Amino acid sequence: MLFMCHQMAMEHESKQKEQAASSSASAPQTPSGENSMRDANVPIIWVLGGPGCGKGTQCEKIVAKYNFSHFSTGDLLREEVASGSDKGKELQAMMKQGILVPNEAVLKLLEAAMAKALSSTVGYLIDGYPREPAQGPEFEKFIAPVDIILYFECSNETLVARIMKRASESATVRADDNEETLKTRIATFRENTEKILVQYPTQLKRINAERAPEEIFADVEKYIDELLAAKGAKKA
Ligand code: AP5
Repeated sequence: MLFMCHQMAMEHESKQKEQAASSSASAPQTPSGENSMRDANVPIIWVLGGPGCGKGTQCEKIVAKYNFSHFSTGDLLREEVASGSDKGKELQAMMKQGILVPNEAVLKLLEAAMAKALSSTVGYLIDGYPREPAQGPEFEKFIAPVDIILYFECSNETLVARIMKRASESATVRADDNEETLKTRIATFRENTEKILVQYPTQLKRINAERAPEEIFADVEKYIDELLAAKGAKKA
């Protein structure tokens, strides 16, 4: 009897090991080898739009109301530059030109920041990502699926006016906030964005960003409230 129990326990243990091995082989892994953001099912919102459309401004309002964790890829990259690392120097050269940096660098910084916030976060705002068609699928493969995309639509004239106003008013002017670099930033944005958005017809929320920040935020609130209600309904 004792022998039979022992044998059954051994068989059970070996089946469990087989199952664990097969599931870890098929589960997509983040660059650091973890996969907990996918399991957490926390809302993930991508915030997109041209340079100066107001991504950062709206994210501040979202954080104040919903307490989401806000990660701007531009800010993460600028922090790396400020650290003075060799990687930072490489990144700075590209950012000064207004071109995109390699996705590997962006995804690594994003994943690390998101993983650090995981235990306490109620939602993620990913500001400025994806910026080229391959970036979205890579995020979803290595980190987790996106729930909605807030896309702030603006004309080139408005983008230029807002960035030049910011540059003229702030004490520390960003290295890429000048007319020459701005042309490349806008061209890069126009070249890639529709190709990104077409991949996500159900998640996409287009928002007219030519209006005052408060009016824009009224639309943002509506979409986030809908998302939170849908996530809540799924859990129930
Ligand atoms: P990033 O830092 O993301 O810059 P950006 O996209 O050019 O956007 P900004 O931060 O300049 O503007 P914003 O839309 O946040 O507007 P804000 O709210 O500040 O990226 C910089 C660089 O990093 C890239 O060029 C690239 O090299 C690299 N990078 C980043 N992500 C990458 C990625 N995923 N892959 C590869 N490379 C990447 O508002 C602007 C101004 O307008 C403010 O003064 C504000 O007060 C004002 N304003 C805002 N809303 C309104 C409104 N409704 N009406 C009037 N004024 C307004």
